[in-house]
Amino acid sequence: MPSTSDQPDPRESVYRERREDAVAAYLGRTPVIYQHDIPLHPLAAHWAAQADDAPQNLFLTGAIGVGKTHTAWQATRLWLDRRIANTGRQPTIQTWRSTRLFDALQPNNHDYDGRTLTAQLQRTDLLYIDDLAAARVSPSGWTQERLYEIFDERYINRRPVLITCDVLPGETEAIVGERVQSRMREMFRGGVLLLEGDDRRKGAAA
Ligand SMILES: Nc1ncnc2c1ncn2[C@@H]1O[C@H](COP(=O)(O)OP(=O)(O)OP(=O)(O)O)[C@@H](O)[C@H]1O
Ligand SMILES: [Mg+2]
Repeated sequence: MPSTSDQPDPRESVYRERREDAVAAYLGRTPVIYQHDIPLHPLAAHWAAQADDAPQNLFLTGAIGVGKTHTAWQATRLWLDRRIANTGRQPTIQTWRSTRLFDALQPNNHDYDGRTLTAQLQRTDLLYIDDLAAARVSPSGWTQERLYEIFDERYINRRPVLITCDVLPGETEAIVGERVQSRMREMFRGGVLLLEGDDRRKGAAA
């Protein structure tokens, strides 16, 4: 008679189905050009795998067009898959372009209730902010205060953040403010990935 350890764990197939459905749904909301797989940098894959020695947070930096956003979408897909495999629970992921995020956090924005949005971004299982330095006008003091609330809550509860940015992590203080910058220094220790290479868009239309 087979031992109980030879029996398939019924939870495994439930988890697998849940993972496949969640990853397919996430792929459906991934921008079209980022849906195909690219060779993922080992540090991004390591972050996504969430092993004990992996960095909690990931800061993808590098020149314009080098592949930061594509890497981020693919890494978050893997992260989602791993998280369900590890916990059996479907996590929430919030993805925001920084420019839209800063707008949404403005007190006079009519599309979002700032308090509700701040709470959502504090609590979501993964917060992915794309192109942090895209806005050439720094966010207002008000927006920086909301960012502080979001980052501080995530920092003290060790909730992961993924950022793409075309400037180095030490150069974002004018955007996020001094207090967020201080927390980011610690949050992204061991999790900064500099992608090197040419602008992949060059020659793409030739
Ligand atoms: N490893 C890769 N192999 C093939 N194509 C890639 C790879 N990485 C990215 N690309 C493609 O290169 C283009 C630019 O990538 P992406 O938008 O990720 O760049 P980026 O670094 O985020 O640029 P920006 O700083 O302007 O936001 C996209 O068409 C993307 O699909
Ligand atoms: Mg990008």
